[in-house]
Amino acid sequence: MSVNWTLPFDEKILPEDKRNLLPIGDYHKVHKTSVANYQQFWAGVAQELEWYKPWNRILDDSNPPFYKWFPGGELNASQLCLDRHYNTWRRNKIAIIWEGEPVDNDGPRKVRKLTYGDLYHEVNRIAHVLRETYGIRKGDTIGLYLPMIPEFPMMMLAAARLGACFTVIFSGFSADSLAERLVDADAKLLITADAGLRRGNMIKLKEIADKAVENAPCMEKIIVVKHVGNDIAMNHDRDAFLHDITRNVPHNVYVEPEKVASEDPLYILHTSGTTGRPKGQVHDVGGYLTLLHATMRWVFDVKDNDVYWCTADIGWVTGHSYIVFGPLMEGVTSLMYEGALDYPEPDRWVSIIERHRVNILYTSPTAIRSFMRNGEDWVKKHDTSTIRLMHSVGEPINPEAFRWMLRHVGHDKVPFGSTWWMTETGGILVSHTPGLYMVPMKPGTNGPAIPGIDADVVDDHGQTQKPLERGYLVIRNPWPGMPLTIHKDPERYKDVYWTRFPGSFYAGDYAVRDNDGYFWMLGRADEVIKVAGHRLGTYELESALIQHPAVAEAAAVAVPDEVKGEVPVAFVILRAGHTSRPELEKELHQWVRERVGPVASLKQIFIVSKLPKTRSAKIMRRVVHAVVLGQPIGDVTTLEDEASVEEVRRAYMELKQEIGVQSQGSA
Ligand code: WTA
Repeated sequence: MSVNWTLPFDEKILPEDKRNLLPIGDYHKVHKTSVANYQQFWAGVAQELEWYKPWNRILDDSNPPFYKWFPGGELNASQLCLDRHYNTWRRNKIAIIWEGEPVDNDGPRKVRKLTYGDLYHEVNRIAHVLRETYGIRKGDTIGLYLPMIPEFPMMMLAAARLGACFTVIFSGFSADSLAERLVDADAKLLITADAGLRRGNMIKLKEIADKAVENAPCMEKIIVVKHVGNDIAMNHDRDAFLHDITRNVPHNVYVEPEKVASEDPLYILHTSGTTGRPKGQVHDVGGYLTLLHATMRWVFDVKDNDVYWCTADIGWVTGHSYIVFGPLMEGVTSLMYEGALDYPEPDRWVSIIERHRVNILYTSPTAIRSFMRNGEDWVKKHDTSTIRLMHSVGEPINPEAFRWMLRHVGHDKVPFGSTWWMTETGGILVSHTPGLYMVPMKPGTNGPAIPGIDADVVDDHGQTQKPLERGYLVIRNPWPGMPLTIHKDPERYKDVYWTRFPGSFYAGDYAVRDNDGYFWMLGRADEVIKVAGHRLGTYELESALIQHPAVAEAAAVAVPDEVKGEVPVAFVILRAGHTSRPELEKELHQWVRERVGPVASLKQIFIVSKLPKTRSAKIMRRVVHAVVLGQPIGDVTTLEDEASVEEVRRAYMELKQEIGVQSQGSA
């Protein structure tokens, strides 16, 4: 495979503050040294954390790809995020500024400010109840299905304090998806809220949780955080309100942090793919926190007087790493916003920046494109001059969105990058590192790999590609923050990530490197869909569809979307006796939303009579995808019936005009 690629712009931009400036050639030299001795290099970073017991080896690589970082070492994430600050002046520093979504017309906005001291006491009280009343210990797993409220990080920290593992399920997932993940993680306690608020709508989380638990026999108890105050059903043998069970716990109760091994699991977070059930990525403690410590400093350059805002939801990995553990470990004041960035007016997000004097902003290309669409007049209504650094994450950023954001929010003078990473990597691996060295920005690039990370772009045979030739992104060395395994499926962990290019981690992304050695990530090489930066497996959509009595077969693929990057559409073959009619299509849309969750809204469903398949009857999603993108369909020697391609094309073209999707190559 040798696809040549052209730089959208070869423009280099420097921020106003050039203190850490390093020519890119010099950066590569420094980087090379860090990679040559990557184990020593990362040990130097890990030493900056506080360990109860030092490790006896930096890396146990005796059983690849099941690497263990800092074996023998003992530490605790909750201790690092709380106790370490509690015992200093930071006790009275604000840890979390929380803003709720609703806006009262005549009153102030709902804002809560919690100091490190407040957070420390609350987490101790919760940990106390979890241990004494619920018997939670090391070895147990707690499920978290919560809206964006301060209790969310508190629960994560309380679990970590006890050495227990937690698993978060994004609140946009349905009862079925929730149940599937809870069962896979063997969670026995679920913590949820009465409801969450988004765009003025109430998402009745407790109601969904009740339904999920019917299909999750491992689940014994539910704790409910009262947030919205809506009426909910409580099963008194099983459910309790957080405020009831903590009522009599003394304010200053102390729960000693469990000394956990560096390679113990901190959490399981599921990601979905093109086949099979969602994969539960298991993250460790020592390696994970080491990577977060490094990237908070190098990438975000956090300082004690900063207000830092990551606009993600804690339901995804970005929130785990860069709303909870990263910022709190560094003692940062971190902003947490409950709702939609453009609600009730398109300037909500800029008003938050202005009112809380945000200095560092971490957001997504989808968010930026929606700001752009609303126009810069909304931005100009507010003072964003406090912003001194920005990054985006989740999907490739188009140069226009980059320039718009840099101009209107960054006033053409602040560092702004596109950090590449994934649920599996635990933290940022490819990015500008303005807190360490500043190299020139280019609109749309991800920049070089961070120190200590040996990233490469390779061809089908694992050979390094020439500059500007498209290939696959691989990470050639083990890194702190890498997964321990896929929960309950180590073979799959090996197969998915470590088999294609032996010895290297296969990320599943297309990438190129330019002549300056900057990476440009071009999107997924598999059929994983990125809707608004959220990772959605085609498997989940398809398996929901084929559970419907009218559906025989289904193929889900992504089509480009101006704001969300891409959105899913599905091609469906009906069972005999069913015919295409508008009500059925409507029903199928609703069916998928109910089974997977609102996050999985299909843009369009196409009813077809055949789908491209191999002779062994496997649907060739790749061919369907090429057709909707208007790209060459490639090698079809295994295709069973070529007329099926025409059928898909016809169905797509007929509706294309109507629904306004663009049929053009993505990256
Ligand atoms: C994509 C999100 C281009 C990529 C943290 C990756 C990106 C997937 C970027 C992981 C970026 C993430 N530029 N693409 N800056 N950041 N991606 O697991 O395709 O939700 O494989 O983790 O997002 O998605 P995940």
